[in-house]
Amino acid sequence: MQIDSARLQQIMINLLNNAQQSFGPEAEGTIHVNVKQENGQAYVEVTDSGKGIEEKEKEYIFERFFRGENKKYETHGLGLGLAFSLMIAQSLHGDLILKSSNPGETTFVLRFPAE
Ligand SMILES: Nc1ncnc2c1ncn2[C@@H]1O[C@H](COP(=O)(O)OP(=O)(O)OP(=O)(O)O)[C@@H](O)[C@H]1O
Ligand SMILES: [Mg+2]
Repeated sequence: MQIDSARLQQIMINLLNNAQQSFGPEAEGTIHVNVKQENGQAYVEVTDSGKGIEEKEKEYIFERFFRGENKKYETHGLGLGLAFSLMIAQSLHGDLILKSSNPGETTFVLRFPAE
């Protein structure tokens, strides 16, 4: 299966914007993107060295209009990036998950079918 590259691009832009914004005003940090293919699935992992997501907020980040305490007073946004990205991923028969987040290391994983 060939996935729609424009859709994939939209998801990546959202994840990379979030990663970049996770560093806060100093905007210093690293972003790693790791890609692998396994059992007919492609996995794109985006890891940043930013401030991380508070434990109690982790269950809400994919909800529409949710914006975390770590960000809402600092960066303008609608809180739609992840909700939208998840919907796109699901429409491609894939998924988008928060793999882990701690101060200094947050990883999202996008999965979609690939040959
Ligand atoms: N890489 C990340 N590091 C830390 N927090 C994150 C990260 N990605 C998402 N979040 C948290 O999840 C919330 C929801 O993310 P989402 O992308 O949906 O909205 P947003 O970035 O605030 O606004 P928008 O994407 O509409 O510009 C963010 O407000 C932030 O608190
Ligand atoms: Mg966003």
